[in-house]
Amino acid sequence: MLKNDEIDIQNKYISKLRQIISGKKYYILTMGCNLNENDSEKIAGMLEKIGYNKVDEMNKADLIIFNTCCIRENAEDKVFGKLGEAKKVKEKNNAIIALCGCMMQQKHIIEKLNKSYPFVDIIFGTHTLHKLPEDLYKLIVAKNKVRDVIDIDGEIYEGIPIKRTSKNKALVTIMYGCNNFCTYCIVPYVRGRERSRKAENILSEIQELAKKGYKEITLLGQNVNSYKGNGYKEIYTFADLLRAVNDIDGIEIINFISPHPKDFTDDVIDAIRDCKKISRILHLPLQSGSSNVLKLMNRKYTKEGYINLAKKIKHEVPDVVFSTDIIVGFPGETEEDFKDTLDVVKTINFEQVFMFIYSKRVGTPAEKMENQIDEKVKHERFERLKQLVEKQLEENNKKYIGTEQEILIEGVSKNNKNTLTGRTKTNKIVILEADDSYIGKIINVKIVSEHMWYLKGEMV
Ligand code: SAH
Ligand code: SF4
Ligand code: F3S
Repeated sequence: MLKNDEIDIQNKYISKLRQIISGKKYYILTMGCNLNENDSEKIAGMLEKIGYNKVDEMNKADLIIFNTCCIRENAEDKVFGKLGEAKKVKEKNNAIIALCGCMMQQKHIIEKLNKSYPFVDIIFGTHTLHKLPEDLYKLIVAKNKVRDVIDIDGEIYEGIPIKRTSKNKALVTIMYGCNNFCTYCIVPYVRGRERSRKAENILSEIQELAKKGYKEITLLGQNVNSYKGNGYKEIYTFADLLRAVNDIDGIEIINFISPHPKDFTDDVIDAIRDCKKISRILHLPLQSGSSNVLKLMNRKYTKEGYINLAKKIKHEVPDVVFSTDIIVGFPGETEEDFKDTLDVVKTINFEQVFMFIYSKRVGTPAEKMENQIDEKVKHERFERLKQLVEKQLEENNKKYIGTEQEILIEGVSKNNKNTLTGRTKTNKIVILEADDSYIGKIINVKIVSEHMWYLKGEMV
């Protein structure tokens, strides 16, 4: 069946449901990464077309959806905790409970849910997200419990309605899946093989966003720099795509996550240098600073290779800063290996470091590796890394004081309703006092003080 036909079928289910559903409310809890955020925006798009309205409190909902993540054990634990809460809402409101996302692609999880959480009405996976209208119809009209999970390499569905969370910055998925099989990682097993969207679909989505007033976009994929274009407007590579996006009027800031160091080719560096809209903070996931551990992780670069790449990028694009992901306590990581990680952190002086304690994932090669690291050692290493990162963060923040920065004002700050919040081109949160009318605009701000996780600024 053609993929467009699939979406037509779902549109028919949307029309049928629209006649039954009115005044009903939905609640979505999204766990995990930006790809899941973007998927939740599509779920919200389908539900709003059916006639559901969004609520922010679970206990007011008629339909509760958890979009799950399984990247680490604590992400999975969270879902089981929240299911208890959802069950109470179901007993009170007769709410429908639906689970979806990466965690649902794992057989042992489905078995556990079916055995111990039979009150879950709908389960769908990452490959069947577009079928939510059909799944809801089967449950509501045919009164059948739905288990709609398939294990395939994956397809791409265009034309799913989308309800975006923000009015000025948007997520745009450019490729799905992953072929890298880093030995610790569950993603290739739950998201399928790498597949790139057609360049014309990506560009028309971004042009539409620009027309609606969106200023900032983030291109998403597990390995964005292995993007493969279909030749539309001569777009074949990720670098070609970056240049084409940079040409779209109205878009002012372009981010992308995540690139893989092994695929960071020179043409991508040249595109970053030439395209001024591309953010000057680059996420370059390190994972470990030890060449031995990197080999065991199947990352396909060495400590020196990573440092040289960062230096080459910095040489071509001097105003760039880096952020990264690091895992501590991978099986076999010695004190020496860990010191290599600290050494790279010192050398690169990252602007932001996302730190994780290694978590065993069912079915991955690292799960079976010997020399799993003791929990106490993992935590102790995590603390040492955290201390180094926080010290560097404080020093880096000080460099901003007195400088002028271009900031996209995103909205009212959560903690103080009298202030607005935005980000620098290097992704630092800036809080300032200014009129609501600046929301969605890019303005010049002078940084006056630093507070670890944010900077304070004044309009100039
Ligand atoms: N595709 C992205 C990563 C997506 S997952 C990339 O390659 O950079 C986000 C981060 O979670 C990874 O970068 C890694 O640091 C971390 N992560 C993945 N699997 C993990 C595991 N089993 N235990 C701990 N952290 C993990
Ligand atoms: Fe996981 Fe590696 Fe793929 Fe990233 S590149 S999603 S870490 S397997
Ligand atoms: Fe989690 Fe799936 Fe993203 S496992 S990190 S939500 S791709």
